[in-house]
Formats: sequence, structure tokens, C-alpha cells
Amino acid sequence: MSTTDTTDTTPFIKVSVLGAAGGIGQPLSLLLKLNPHINELALYDVVNIPGVAADLNHIDTDVKITCHMKSKSADSNSNESLNESLKNAIENSNFIIIPAGLPRKPGMTRGDLFNINANICKELAEYIALYSPNSIVLIISNPVNSTVAVFKEIFVKFNIFNPKKLFGVTILDHVRSNTFISELIDGTLPNHYNVPVVGGHSGHSIVPLFSQSNCDISNLKILNDENILDSLIHRVQYGGDEIVKAKNGLGSATLSMAYAGNKFFNIILNGYLNIKEIKISSYIYLDDSIPGIIELKNNLKILLNKNNKNIKIPEFLATPMTFDLNGIKNVDYTWVNKMNHKEQEMFFIAADFINQNVEKGINFVHS
Ligand code: NAD
Ligand code: LMR
Repeated sequence: MSTTDTTDTTPFIKVSVLGAAGGIGQPLSLLLKLNPHINELALYDVVNIPGVAADLNHIDTDVKITCHMKSKSADSNSNESLNESLKNAIENSNFIIIPAGLPRKPGMTRGDLFNINANICKELAEYIALYSPNSIVLIISNPVNSTVAVFKEIFVKFNIFNPKKLFGVTILDHVRSNTFISELIDGTLPNHYNVPVVGGHSGHSIVPLFSQSNCDISNLKILNDENILDSLIHRVQYGGDEIVKAKNGLGSATLSMAYAGNKFFNIILNGYLNIKEIKISSYIYLDDSIPGIIELKNNLKILLNKNNKNIKIPEFLATPMTFDLNGIKNVDYTWVNKMNHKEQEMFFIAADFINQNVEKGINFVHS
């Protein structure tokens, strides 16, 4: 059906998924194909993408699918090996979502993925810098604590870094926290819980703030039991391992990640289109130009000093925020002063760990 209404000011929305043929990429692309606000969904991968695109193309929603697969010639190291497919996939995109890269196998840490995934991220970041420097970029590829730093360093190198538009996707930790607390209480309505999670996205760098949940969880008897609270926190921090073990060599979380990634994308999109303001955490570079960051850093400095902790404030951190057309609208710093003693101790451990992970990402780009 065509429309002649010239008063419609809704922007054309193009979303690119890089790594769209993978375990996360496929279900995430399916969810995006159902999104009424998206006009074009560009699917890019180094393998198997024509089949995924053809399959999604049979769905009767109004999202146009475009298919982009890296060609063999683009694999060579010659100067003429421009990756046209990647260029076309990302050009004029409002949002680029990146689940490209190797997943874990049992016995691996996310850090073990760094070498391979950092090289994948490097190529993608350089193309985004050259051909889509204004897009909002969402990074799922692990280890998120380091890959986001790789993107930032490359964007700085190309002089296009906008700290309001680069996000590490950590929302799965929030989704898990909601689910696991619900399981402990009565197993119902998990998505009525809203547990803020700060820090990073790996083991002890993940800091769920159950005391700051929307429901007054801190008064719940079960959470006054130190052992129950400890095992709940541990389950959130190591939820990824639970899936890696259950999949027994066939990868890590894909379906829950696709759900979580789509949830995060929709929250950003709601802010971008000025539909609704929702607060959620993401792993970002703590740039002073972002509203709330100076306050966040000041509060963290006071906290560290008060506790005689000689820890550098991380350059990157998952912290709750809201969104608008420019990406990040406002960062919420109020959680710092509301952390209880246990959460503060967890945060100190997380900060130390994140600092090491960030250094790894920075060194990779500059070595
Ligand atoms: P997968 O192996 O199933 O899919 C990865 C896809 O990336 C594949 O289709 C592969 O062809 C593609 N790919 C490889 N190199 C590429 C390149 N240079 N350009 C474009 N695409 C490329 O893996 P998966 O299960 O989908 O996981 C993907 C990544 O997401 C992993 O690094 C995993 O650890 C991470 N992950 C992150 C979170 C999170 O919370 N942030 C959650 C789950 C998984
Ligand atoms: C997760 O948290 O499930 C992901 O980061 C994947 C992983 O390696 O655990």
C-alpha cells in the first residue's frame, strides 16, 4: 500500500547486523524483521548469509532485507581488496549491531576469545569509521570488556569517535538477574523485576545491584540469608558458563542473547524516536561530555578514597542510562551512593578486572 501523506516525519531506519548468520545473528535478525519501526535490515556475514536472508524474506512484515556476504577476493591482502559487501551493509545505517565472532567452548574464558575476536572487530571498526561514522554501534562480540575498547581506539584513530554512540551490550546480565530473582521468589513474572547491573560483562566484573531493584528485594527474608544471596549473585556472574556447559561444545547463549539484544535495541530506538524514555545499563566509555559522567566519576572517587582503595576509576563501565536521537541522553550516577557494603566490595573487584581488560583492548590497537 502506498501513502501520499507528506506530513510523515518518521525517519527511515536502517539497521545492520554484522555476523547475522550466526547463533545470535539469526534469531536476532528474526526479531528485528518483526520490528515495525525498521525500514531496512542489512544482513552481513562471511558465510551462509544468502540462505538466512532468503528465509527471512518470506516473512510478511514491512522490513526490507538486504543480503551482504564477504566475497573471496575481499579476503586477499592486496590493496584492492575492498570489502564492498561490508561497505554496502553499513552505509547509511542508523544502527549497527555486532554479534560477529567466536563463542566460548567449555573450559574457555571470554578472555580466551580475545585474539580472534579483536581481529574481527578491528576490520569491522575500520569499515564503520570509513563508511558509516555516524551510526550508533552496539557490540555483542566477546570479550565485551575489551572489544568495546578496541572499537573506541580505532574510532579515535580515524577521528570519528562519538562516546554517546558506542555501546557494549551487557543487558543479558540484567535479564538473567530478573529471571533468577523471580525463580527464587515464586517463579512468576520475571520481567516485572528490574535489577540494575553495573560493572562489565564477565565473571566478577558483573555487579548486580539487587538492593536497588524496583521491588523491595532487600527486605525479602531469603536475601537476608548470606548463602542464598551469594549463590544468586554467583549465578548471575557465571550465567554464561551455565549455558556453555549445557550446550556442551556447541557454543554459548544465543537465544537469550538475541532476546536481550533485541530488548536493548528497542530501548535505544524508543529514545532515538522519542517514543519512550527507559533506563538500562550498557558498557560505555566514561567521557566527561556525556551528561552525568562527571558526577559518576566524582562519586566513584569519593567512594574509593573513603575505602582506602588505590584503584583507578575504569575508563569503561556498564552503568544505567537513558537515550535520545544522539545516543546516550543521560547517565544515572545515583547508584554509586546507594550501594550497600557487599555491592561496594564487589564493585572494587570489578573495577580492577575491567581496568586489565580495557588495557588489553587498547594495547591490541596500538601494538
Ligand atoms: P556464532 O559462531 O554462532 O556466530 C558468529 C558469526 O560471526 C558467524 O556466523 C561467523 O561467520 C560470523 N563472523 C566471523 N567472522 C566474521 C567477520 N569477520 N565479519 C562478520 N561476521 C563474522 O557465535 P554466536 O553464538 O552468535 O556468538 C557471537 C559472539 O557473541 C561471541 O563472541 C560470543 O561470545 C558473544 N556473545 C556475547 C554475549 C553478550 O552478552 N554480549 C552473549 C552471548 C554471546
Ligand atoms: C554470556 O554471558 O552468555 C555470553 O557472554 C557468552 C559467554 O561466553 O558466556
